[in-house]
Amino acid sequence: MHDFGYDVSDYNAIEPIFGSMQDFDNLLEALHKRKIRLLLDLVANHTSHEHPWFVESRSSRTNPKRDWYVWRDGNRFWPPNNWQSVFGGSAWEWDSKTESYYLHSFLKEQPDLNWRNDEVKAAIFEVMEFWLKKGVDGFRLDVVNMFFKDSEFKSNPLRLWGWRYPRPYEFQTHIHDMSQDEMHPMLKEMRQLLDKYNAVAVGEVMADFAGDTALAASYLGDNDELHLTFDFTLLYQKWDAHAIGKTLAAWYTACSTNWPTLVFNNHDQDRSVNRYSKAFENDARAKILAALLLTAKGTPFLYYGEEIAMKNGSIEKADLRDPVGIRFWPLTVSRDPARTPMLWDKSHNAGFSTEKPWLPVNDDYLKRNKEAQEADAGSVLNFYRKLLAFRKENAALRLGSFSLLDRGKNVLAFRREHKGDIIDVYLNFAAAPSAIPLPSGRVLFSNQNRYGLSRSLGGYEVLLIAVDS
Ligand code: GLC
Repeated sequence: MHDFGYDVSDYNAIEPIFGSMQDFDNLLEALHKRKIRLLLDLVANHTSHEHPWFVESRSSRTNPKRDWYVWRDGNRFWPPNNWQSVFGGSAWEWDSKTESYYLHSFLKEQPDLNWRNDEVKAAIFEVMEFWLKKGVDGFRLDVVNMFFKDSEFKSNPLRLWGWRYPRPYEFQTHIHDMSQDEMHPMLKEMRQLLDKYNAVAVGEVMADFAGDTALAASYLGDNDELHLTFDFTLLYQKWDAHAIGKTLAAWYTACSTNWPTLVFNNHDQDRSVNRYSKAFENDARAKILAALLLTAKGTPFLYYGEEIAMKNGSIEKADLRDPVGIRFWPLTVSRDPARTPMLWDKSHNAGFSTEKPWLPVNDDYLKRNKEAQEADAGSVLNFYRKLLAFRKENAALRLGSFSLLDRGKNVLAFRREHKGDIIDVYLNFAAAPSAIPLPSGRVLFSNQNRYGLSRSLGGYEVLLIAVDS
């Protein structure tokens, strides 16, 4: 639990603090009974330093598992190259027992596996089969483009621009410690394994900058590598209808005939409500984002709490858990604020637990919680539900083609079309109404009082129109 689950010491077991294998089996069965599928987060770039593979590997230079990890000789005071850990400091840790360095792209408790060794690949594929045989429906592949590193261990070039936080990792261009070409043939093999079980994989692609649509799309191959990948360009966009539209279009172009994902939140980022906060308009903005997530083209990914527009928790230094937040404090890089307990109701600890939760409960929980929003017809939660229902009913929203409609600065408008059904989506990113032309058709959905299409688009209005064809 050095990185809360991203440091695996046994791939085929359940961490006891979360329950038992029986609990897992029950969960899987209960989900499947309800037609809900389950993907596991597969962390295969690195293991825990406590994993028996690494314990063996570090035990001697001649151990059969020595080459399962990335070891390099060097001088104790001079690491093999300039690679940096994402979580701070050199990516190389000196191991005095065998007097050499091992690579860790994250914490030193997370040594990187050597994917150039075929035994490692076989071992991870075996892990995948273990869970696939149990019936899981697929995997999220953690930092998938980091598995392979430059075979000559060349240092990364330095750069002085493009950083978000002043940490050394961001002052180099990561051309040698990630995104190597060897990833593609490996993913093709993995795809065959997944297809055998009719399972899906979605890869988390680490980009050098905020996001990289082309890089993320490249791991889809010709629909023969990963089924889906995450690109975070959209997630890092400013509140700007035009820029978001442009990014979407670029993402779809990059994906070409492959299938895109849509994502605005995850456990590593500030919550979208905070990124886009604007005094009293937060819920209005949360609804615009929800509408975008559920009506644009792509598989939507929702992070818990997003459906009630949960905010970042405010966390005192003493309560920090995330090793990154602790290391870089007082820089606000901690991932803890987005990981606070789900707000279920107004009871003790927001109904999350009777025990003291691992992170403090958000202080607005009496007002903002799932139970309160359920009772409020205009809540963000009920908005999500309505739109999810629309998505389910309308194949055009799920499967349709996508084209941007140019409707000025503050309005993001696009057309989805499937087998002759056309749905136009209008999202007003501003509080002010917008007098733009609307097509003739039938109002499918609006979050405001609206009869017909004769009046202009209201402030923060979400409007779905079934267009006359
Ligand atoms: C990914 C995960 C993050 C984790 C890291 C190392 O970025 O999303 O939470 O800390 O990989 O495994």
